[in-house]
Amino acid sequence: MCSVVGYVGKNLSRSFVMEGLTRLEYRGYDSAGFACLHPQDHRVIYTKSQGGVSNLLKNFEKSPIDGFLGMGHTRWSTHGVISTENAHPQFDCKKMISIVHNGIIENHHELRLSLMQAGHIFQSQTDTETIAHLFESLLTTHKNIKDAVVGLVNRLEGAYAFAILMTPYPDMMLVVRKRSPLCIGSGDDEMFIASDMLAFAGKTNKMLFLPDESFAFIRKNSIELFDFKGTALQPHFQIVDIPWTSDMKQGYEHFMLKEICEQKRVIQDTVNKYRAQEHEVYQKMGLVAQQVKELQRITLVGCGTSWHAARVAQFFFETIARVRVDVGLASEMRYLPFFLEKNSIAIGISQSGETADTLEALRFLREQSVHTIALVNVPSSTMVRETRGALSVYAGPEVAVASTKAFAAQVTALYWLAHKIALEKGLINERALKTAENELLVAAEILESAMDQYKREIVQKLAPYYAQFKQALFLGRHISYPFAQEASLKLKEISYIFTDCYPAAELKHGPLALVDKEMPIFIFSILDPVIYQKLVSNAQEVKARSGHLIAFAFEGQKELIELADTAFVIPRVNPLLGPLAMTGLMQLFNYHIARVLNRPIDKPRNLAKSLTVE
Ligand code: G6P
Repeated sequence: MCSVVGYVGKNLSRSFVMEGLTRLEYRGYDSAGFACLHPQDHRVIYTKSQGGVSNLLKNFEKSPIDGFLGMGHTRWSTHGVISTENAHPQFDCKKMISIVHNGIIENHHELRLSLMQAGHIFQSQTDTETIAHLFESLLTTHKNIKDAVVGLVNRLEGAYAFAILMTPYPDMMLVVRKRSPLCIGSGDDEMFIASDMLAFAGKTNKMLFLPDESFAFIRKNSIELFDFKGTALQPHFQIVDIPWTSDMKQGYEHFMLKEICEQKRVIQDTVNKYRAQEHEVYQKMGLVAQQVKELQRITLVGCGTSWHAARVAQFFFETIARVRVDVGLASEMRYLPFFLEKNSIAIGISQSGETADTLEALRFLREQSVHTIALVNVPSSTMVRETRGALSVYAGPEVAVASTKAFAAQVTALYWLAHKIALEKGLINERALKTAENELLVAAEILESAMDQYKREIVQKLAPYYAQFKQALFLGRHISYPFAQEASLKLKEISYIFTDCYPAAELKHGPLALVDKEMPIFIFSILDPVIYQKLVSNAQEVKARSGHLIAFAFEGQKELIELADTAFVIPRVNPLLGPLAMTGLMQLFNYHIARVLNRPIDKPRNLAKSLTVE
C-alpha cells in the first residue's frame, strides 16, 4: 500500500507535496519520490530515494526541483524489491508520462510482455510502469486523451488509484480511481490530490471523493470528471473538517506512546457519544427497532487488531444479547461458502475504513444480500460510503502503525452495542444499559491507573530484562484468548521478537514442547472462577517444566500471582471487560520492550498502517 499526493495550482507544489507525504507516511515508507513539470519547458523532472520522506528531502539539497504541477509518492512494496528504480514516479519510454500509483495491477505480467514485444523498454520491476507504457501506446492510437484513458482502464485489472503528469499537458493532472481511495481538495486557484484527505487538512475542507471507477482531468480551477465509459459526471464536493495540528506527538517520544496514553479519554468519549446518540443508533446502522428485535445472527469481519476486537466482541453479543456471532477474518471469509440466514447483519470493523481485505469482504457480504454496517474510526472512509449503515468509534486520528487506542474504542463501542441490542430484545432494562456504560468508565480508569502503577518498574527493570529474549509465547482462555492474540501481535510487530499465541489448554497438545527458560510465557487471566482455575492448571504445567511466566492477573487471584515470575495485578472489573482494563498495561509493556531494542516503533519495518491492497 502506498500514498499518492498531488498539487495543481498557483503556487509551487513541492512544499505541499512533501508535507502531504509526511502526513501519509503511515501508508508506506519503503521508498519515496517526487515529480513535477518544469515551470518553463514542462519537462518531467523528478527525484527518488529509498526509505522514508526524510531521505527524499535530503535529495532536494542537491537538486532543488519544483513546479506548479507536482506529485509525490511513498511506497509499500508489492511488485519488485525496495530500490530507487522501483520507487515512484515511473515513466513511459520517452519520460513524457510520469505516474505515481497506489494499488495492484493484477494483469501487469501479460501487459508487460505484450508491451515489450511492441518495443517498450522497462526500467523497473513494478506493475506501475506497465500503466505508463500502456498509456504511451494508447495515446498514439486514440484520437484524444479522454478516449485513451477509457482504453487504458479497460485494459487494467485490479485495484488502483494513480496520478499522471504529462509534458504535452502542462496545466493538467490526470487522476484515475478504481477501488483504491483518492480524494481531491479544492482551494483558491489550487487543487490538492491525495490518497487520504489528511494530506490537505488545514488547507481546504472542500472535498471530492473520486467516485469508484472514475477519472478526472484536474486543472487549478476546474475538474472534468468521467466514468470508465467516458461519460461526464458532475463532481459532488462536500465540506469535511478534519482535525489536524502540526505538533501531533505533543511531546511524546512516539505516536504509539501518546495513543496508548489517550485511551482513558477515548473510552470516555466513545461512551459519551453513544449515550448521547442512543436514539439515533439504529438509524445510523440503517435498521429499524423491529429488525434489531428479530436479529438472530451477526457476522463480524476485520483484519489485524480490528479482527481481534471482533473476536473479543463475539463474547459480548453472544453473552449479553444472546445473538449468534460468526467472526470472519476478512481476507479468508470471502473465499469460503457463505450461508445466508434471515435476520442477520454484518459489521465490518476497521480503524481506517479503507483496508482492502475488509472492504472486499463487506462487498462480498453485500452481494449475498446481507445488511452491511461499518464500524470505523474515520467517518469519511470508503467503508462508510459503501455500507448500508455506519457507526463511528471516537479514537481520534491514530498515527502509529500498531493500533492501540482504536482497539480500545472498538471494544467499548461493541460492548455498548451488545447492551443496546439486548435492551431492544427485552433481555435487559434501561438501568442495565446505564450500568454497562459505567462499567466501561470504570475499565477506563483502571486501564490508566494500572499503567501509572507499573510504569516505573516496566521502564527501569522489566522492559530491559524481557527485551533480551528472542521469542515469547502468549496464552489466554475464553475472552482472554483473543486478547492474548492481540498482545502477541503487538509485541511481534513493534519489537520483532518472534511470538505465537495459543488457547492455554492447547499448550499440552504441542507447544509445551517449546517451553524452557529461554521463552517467557505471557498468560492473561480471566475473572470467571471456573475458567480461572483451569488457567491456573495451565500455568502450573508451565512452571512444572521450569517455564518463565508473566501473568496479567486480577486482584485476589493468589494462585496465579504466586506462580508467576512477573505479575501485573489490576483491580476487578466486569468479567467481560477484563481485556479492556488490561489493554493499556499490555501495550505499555510491549512498547517499552521495543523501545529498549531501539526499534522504529511508529513505523515498523515492512508494515503500513492502512492496507489498501488485498
Ligand atoms: C494494518 C495495521 C494494523 C491494523 C490492520 C487493520 O495491518 O498495521 O494495525 O489492525 O491493518 O486495519 P484497519 O484500519 O482495518 O483496522
